[in-house]
Amino acid sequence: MRELAGKVAVITGAASGIGLALSRRLGADGMRVMISDVDEPALADAARSLMADGIEVATTVTDVSDPDSVDALARATLDRFGGVHVVCNNAGVSRGGPSWEIPLPTWNWVMGVNLFGIVHGIRSFVPHLIAQGEGHVVNTASVAGLVAARCGGPYSASKHAAVAVSESLYHDLAAIGSPVGVSVLCPGPVRTRIHESFRHWQDRFGPRPSVQDSPAVAEWRRESAVMVESGLDPALIATAVRDAIVGNRFWILTHPEYANSLLSRYYGLIKADTPCA
Ligand SMILES: NC(=O)c1ccc[n+]([C@@H]2O[C@H](COP(=O)([O-])OP(=O)(O)OC[C@H]3O[C@@H](n4cnc5c(N)ncnc54)[C@H](O)[C@@H]3O)[C@@H](O)[C@H]2O)c1
Repeated sequence: MRELAGKVAVITGAASGIGLALSRRLGADGMRVMISDVDEPALADAARSLMADGIEVATTVTDVSDPDSVDALARATLDRFGGVHVVCNNAGVSRGGPSWEIPLPTWNWVMGVNLFGIVHGIRSFVPHLIAQGEGHVVNTASVAGLVAARCGGPYSASKHAAVAVSESLYHDLAAIGSPVGVSVLCPGPVRTRIHESFRHWQDRFGPRPSVQDSPAVAEWRRESAVMVESGLDPALIATAVRDAIVGNRFWILTHPEYANSLLSRYYGLIKADTPCA
């Protein structure tokens, strides 16, 4: 999609971090933005700050893990703006630990938001984009969707699946000759609140699990938080996404320092070697 001005973007997980930066970037490029998030007060704050920048914005409280909620978001976007062109399936949560210690509700929650949030976004929006003959889908995965690391079980599983779903979507659209574009965003650490994801637990996944971390896992959690807090500015990620939409590029790799990890992973795979992180 070469022209963004005057068109409509919908962004999930838009109340914070990468989603908020994406909303600001696309809004600054003249798009009208439907921002959605499960966190209602933070969503209202985000809308106020975008409007203060002169961006035309509407809000819908959405839980992306719930298909009806994402359908309602699609209806609200079409009702409000009469169309939709860019769909950023961005909402995500993270919770790690040794795979055998992570409670089942935590696995379900991370997969429900990170994978099924994208699946629901595809099912609710892509038919409109196909019918319109124009549009672009951006799915937020992670570098954790390309290489798996310690304590990353559900997060990495959800992000690998997000990459796979995005690649299949790309092939499915190409197979019907649709001009709708697809990108998958695979960042390394970005300065957001992702490490505080437990603030968004949804009760329909059961009571929020409370787990006593071992000292080693507590140390891993602290190190992960430091990595995120010293990560890239979300505004840089948003610019990379905008450029990929306009340039119709599939892969959005924002952290070149992970190139060696990717090479080692795939080289080791071809050689049937042991996994490397
Ligand atoms: N920050 C990083 O280092 C990093 C790296 C790679 C990928 N990502 C991915 O970027 C995306 C955005 O995360 P972020 O880093 O900006 O974190 P963040 O916590 O700052 O923002 C995530 C937003 O998603 C919302 N959210 C959570 N559950 C939701 C649900 N069920 N429905 C709707 N909204 C929900 C939260 O309220 C929050 O506003 C996620 O998919 C994350 O996995 C982040």
